[in-house]
Amino acid sequence: MRAALLEEIGKPLSIVSDVQVEDPGPNQVLVKVAHCGICHSDLTSVEMGSAKLPIILGHEAAGVVEAVGSNVNRLQRGDHVVLTPLAPCGHCYYCVRHQPTLCIEAQSFMSGTFPDGTTPFSRDGAAVYRGFGVGGFGEFAMVSELAAVRIDPEIPLETACVIGCAIQTGVGAVLNTAEVEEGATVLVTGLGGIGLSIVQGARIAGATKIIVSDPVAERRDHAANFGATHILDPNEEDVPARARELTDGIGVDYAFDGAGYVPLIRDCIAASRIGGTTVMVGASMGADALPIDVVAMFLSQEKVLRGSLLGSCHAHRDIPRFLALWQQGLLQLETMISHRRPLAEIDQGFDDMRAGRGIRTVLDLS
Ligand SMILES: NC(=O)c1ccc[n+]([C@@H]2O[C@H](COP(=O)([O-])OP(=O)(O)OC[C@H]3O[C@@H](n4cnc5c(N)ncnc54)[C@H](O)[C@@H]3O)[C@@H](O)[C@H]2O)c1
Ligand SMILES: [Zn+2]
Ligand SMILES: [Zn+2]
Repeated sequence: MRAALLEEIGKPLSIVSDVQVEDPGPNQVLVKVAHCGICHSDLTSVEMGSAKLPIILGHEAAGVVEAVGSNVNRLQRGDHVVLTPLAPCGHCYYCVRHQPTLCIEAQSFMSGTFPDGTTPFSRDGAAVYRGFGVGGFGEFAMVSELAAVRIDPEIPLETACVIGCAIQTGVGAVLNTAEVEEGATVLVTGLGGIGLSIVQGARIAGATKIIVSDPVAERRDHAANFGATHILDPNEEDVPARARELTDGIGVDYAFDGAGYVPLIRDCIAASRIGGTTVMVGASMGADALPIDVVAMFLSQEKVLRGSLLGSCHAHRDIPRFLALWQQGLLQLETMISHRRPLAEIDQGFDDMRAGRGIRTVLDLS
């Protein structure tokens, strides 16, 4: 099959057409990928590495089931599916405690292989790995049957693919992780696909003030359309001070970092009110030391800092739920997609992201 391969960290991807694909294992499905969005986590993997090489990255994909393994009876050839990077097994320690993204089986999503250490792809007999549990930058993706969520075939696959990561991560962080309530005040730092999905989630939750910041003017220009009420340039304004000012000196109820820079976590904590919650959504891959006055912040002021992985989503509950919100006109999907490119232009897609151009680039593999 044809695929974009990361062979060396920091280098452009290679478009190859000789990847060998095995038949699906008993509980696996082979999906013909139609569209796959580019997420900053893919860019971080290109620039800093994540799992083994060579690897087919891409984890925001939708497509059509091509073949199913012998034990699969929930899905059949021809089904339209959205793929999820984290497929909860349903019965491990975390799944039964309603923490599906912490599922023990699903943690292999960072390893480049299935939980048993295998990969279905190879080239000239050498293993090729798959990124973030999906591997959507190829003509076919092989996933656990639990990682494919069937959708109505009338829904365009291009529209649906952004649910796989951006929407699950951003909207889920608001509705599932933080459980933002009506009337709450919210700050979002970073306005890429993830941050703008957080903004959408805050609007759906009924937040009354949605304060946002991003140094890139084009990103700020999109924010009001998705629900932001106050838009700040962090190069011009002191974001925590402005957030407190805009909330009558109290601070926001919830602050979300959607950019992935450690200093922004400190800003979010500073912007949040006494007893308020900061949610870390952006995935900082740099030096992670963060000096915080823990006694003042967490003991005396009862502030909360928590992480959110893929929006704490249960894909089989939340992908249909987000599609229903879209069908009701409450969630925007099409406007999240600013660029469409063929697989051969994947590196230009990464360049768009580096420059903060547009919102999401979606690759067309159909
Ligand atoms: N928690 C999860 O499960 C999860 C899932 C997917 C992605 N992520 C992470 O989320 C982050 C965002 O991903 P994306 O695809 O939206 O990336 P993106 O590159 O499209 O957007 C990031 C935005 O942050 C902005 N930014 C940079 N410095 C800033 C600052 N000082 N203040 C405010 N904004 C600033 C950039 O200008 C950019 O618009 C990445 O770190 C990614 O790895 C996390
Ligand atoms: Zn992602
Ligand atoms: Zn589990």
